[in-house]
Amino acid sequence: MRIMGIETSCDDTGISIIEAKGRKNPSFCILANTVASQIKIHQKYGGVYPNLAKREHETNLPIAIAQALKAAKLDPSRPRLDALAITYGPGLAPCLWTGLNTAQKLARQWNIPIIPVNHMEGHLLISLFMPKRGLGVPKPRLGNIFPAIALLVSGGHTQLVLVSALGKYKLLGETRDDAAGECFDKTARILGLPYPGGPAIAKLAAMPLPKPRLGTPKRGLGMKLPRPMLTTKDYDFSFSGLKTAVLYDWKARPKKVRESAEYVREMAKEIQQAIIDVLVLKTLRAANEYRAKSIILGGGVAANKELRKQLRYKLQTTSCKLLVAPPALCTDNGAMVAVAGYATWLKGKYPKNPETLRAQPNASIE
Ligand code: KG4
Ligand code: ZN
Repeated sequence: MRIMGIETSCDDTGISIIEAKGRKNPSFCILANTVASQIKIHQKYGGVYPNLAKREHETNLPIAIAQALKAAKLDPSRPRLDALAITYGPGLAPCLWTGLNTAQKLARQWNIPIIPVNHMEGHLLISLFMPKRGLGVPKPRLGNIFPAIALLVSGGHTQLVLVSALGKYKLLGETRDDAAGECFDKTARILGLPYPGGPAIAKLAAMPLPKPRLGTPKRGLGMKLPRPMLTTKDYDFSFSGLKTAVLYDWKARPKKVRESAEYVREMAKEIQQAIIDVLVLKTLRAANEYRAKSIILGGGVAANKELRKQLRYKLQTTSCKLLVAPPALCTDNGAMVAVAGYATWLKGKYPKNPETLRAQPNASIE
């Protein structure tokens, strides 16, 4: 079955076409995957403006759809697709509605059903079905992996989810304020780094710190950020205090120091490590408590190399597997929506009348 996935929940217009098959052992291959990024537009403001993002989706959608159909070698007037999968939430309301309206128009035109998809489930499922590297032949990973703990980390969400079977989710905890990705974005802005902050901080953090100067006892400026809620017994997170700590440190430094490459690099390293420490520890604790056979890592922050490396390292001596998609499929894209659409189609649980569909900006994964 051929499915087009449409993703417009935030600032990326993602269109993908997949060919999916199999019921017990589902697999798929990606025929096209187009992501029209709005980074340049939002970079000026250091964050996403919903109405601006909506306008960009309206411009980008027809172009991205035409590109995807062309890449998949399908006739744009009669593309012979079996279904459309669309993100109904969570996300920014004007952006979700733009995607949904486009999907409804196409569904009428091509006379095919629409399968509504939860954005966070899309992030989760793409990590289950994808191979470790590249976009090549996908391997389903549905063997002996449940119960699993999913750590879903994006610009809008930070969640720990117990996955007892495909489609069976229990939210164990989430952020009480800023999401992990939001923390990367906001602290990057304080340091004068471009949006999105995650990749900018990761790039600087990967650079080696300068060698200590002759006669100075320690390396670097020695800043130490808090690890918020690291030891609390629940599975909730909080990242806004981390952002405030960065701001206070930055303000307390002389202009010459805080604008130096050395300061920005060292702070980037410390921000990334503080976020990783909390995410990894709480995920491992949940995995231990629920005797998880695997950890599923998903969402834009899952593209972070250091987070992947440190989580993999911690799991080395256990029988718990790490399931994570290639970085390009961790950030928002249409393939994750199409894949989650196929999983929903297999269960047959979707509204048969596409006109009744509504965007749900606060939709929950449960
Ligand atoms: O899932 P996503 O693409 O969009 C939302 O659903 O929000 O996640 C975007 C977030 C942004 O906050 C961005 O800074 C972060 O993911 N991100 C990263 C990396 N790549 C993207 N954070 C850390 N390291 C990265 N390499
Ligand atoms: Zn996302």
